[in-house]
Amino acid sequence: MIDLGLAGKRAIVSGAGFIPERAGHGRQSSLKLAEAGATVACIDIDEGRAKGIVAEIESIGGKAFPVVADMTDRDQVQRAVDEAAGLLGGIDVCVDIIGKATWSLVEDVTPEEWQQDLQQNITQVFNLWQIVGRHMIEQGTGGSLVALASVDGFVGSRYHAAYGVAKAGVISLAKTFAEELGRYGIRANAVAPGNVGTGNEDQPEGEYAVDPKNPLAAPRGSDIANAVLFLSSALAARITGQTLVVDGGAIIRSLWGMTPEVIPQFRSLY
Ligand SMILES: NC(=O)c1ccc[n+]([C@@H]2O[C@H](COP(=O)([O-])OP(=O)(O)OC[C@H]3O[C@@H](n4cnc5c(N)ncnc54)[C@H](O)[C@@H]3O)[C@@H](O)[C@H]2O)c1
Repeated sequence: MIDLGLAGKRAIVSGAGFIPERAGHGRQSSLKLAEAGATVACIDIDEGRAKGIVAEIESIGGKAFPVVADMTDRDQVQRAVDEAAGLLGGIDVCVDIIGKATWSLVEDVTPEEWQQDLQQNITQVFNLWQIVGRHMIEQGTGGSLVALASVDGFVGSRYHAAYGVAKAGVISLAKTFAEELGRYGIRANAVAPGNVGTGNEDQPEGEYAVDPKNPLAAPRGSDIANAVLFLSSALAARITGQTLVVDGGAIIRSLWGMTPEVIPQFRSLY
C-alpha cells in the first residue's frame, strides 16, 4: 500500500459544494481528501451545498464539517479560515476551487466585469493562501496550498480575457508563494484543468483521440481531483511552484496540422 500521508491531516476546501450542471471539482476533491483520511472543512457560499458534501463524506465513513462563507470577501475568508482552523485544530492542506468566467468581447468588457473576474479568480486565491499561510507559519509544521488555475492561463482566452489573466496569475502566484514560504515547509501548486464541462465522467474508457480537441481524451472531474489529491499528498513532498495541466493533451497540440504524408517532403528539406 502506498501511503499518501494524508491520514489524520486537516484540510480546507474552499468551494467544496456541488452544482449538478457544473464540473464538481470541489465535491470530488473533498471526497478524495476524505477518502485518503483527512478531515475536511467544507467551505461554501451556499449552506445547503456545504452540508450536502459533508453528508456525502460522512456516508463513506469520512470526517468533515461545513463552513459557510463568501470566499470572495476578505473578511469572510478570515472568519471562515479561523473557524475551520479552530475546529480542525490546525491546517495542513488548503485547496481553492473557486473561479468563474464572465464572457464578453474584449471591446465590450466593462470595468465592473474586469474587476469582478479578477476578484473571483485571483484576488480571492491570494487572500485565502495568505491567511492560511499565516496559520501554517504559526503552526510550524509546513503544509500544502493548491488552487485551480486553467489551461486558459497558458493560452489565449477568447471572449473571457480577465479570466485568462487571472488564471495566468494563479500560475504565477503558485511560484511566488512556493518560493517565499518554502522555508516554512509550505508548498504551493496549481492544477490547470482543460475543458471538463459538466464533469465528462461519461467519456468511454479506452477510447482515445475521438474528438479533435484532445489527442488523448477529454479530462474528467475525477482526473482533476486526482491531481489535487496528488499535489496535497506526501507523494508531492518535493514539488512546489508547479502547475499540473490536466487536459487530455489539448494544449500541447501542434498548430500545423501535419499528416504522415508530408514526412518524405520534409525529410529532404531539413
Ligand atoms: N469545468 C471546467 O471545464 C474548468 C476548466 C478549467 C478550470 N476550471 C476551474 O474549476 C473551478 C470551478 O469548478 P466547478 O465548476 O466544479 O465549481 P463550481 O463553480 O460548481 O463551484 C463549486 C462550489 O463553490 C461554491 N462557491 C462559488 N462561489 C463561491 C464563493 N464566492 N464563496 C464560497 N463558495 C463559493 C459553489 O456554491 C459550489 O458549491 C474554477 O476555478 C474554474 O476556473 C473549470
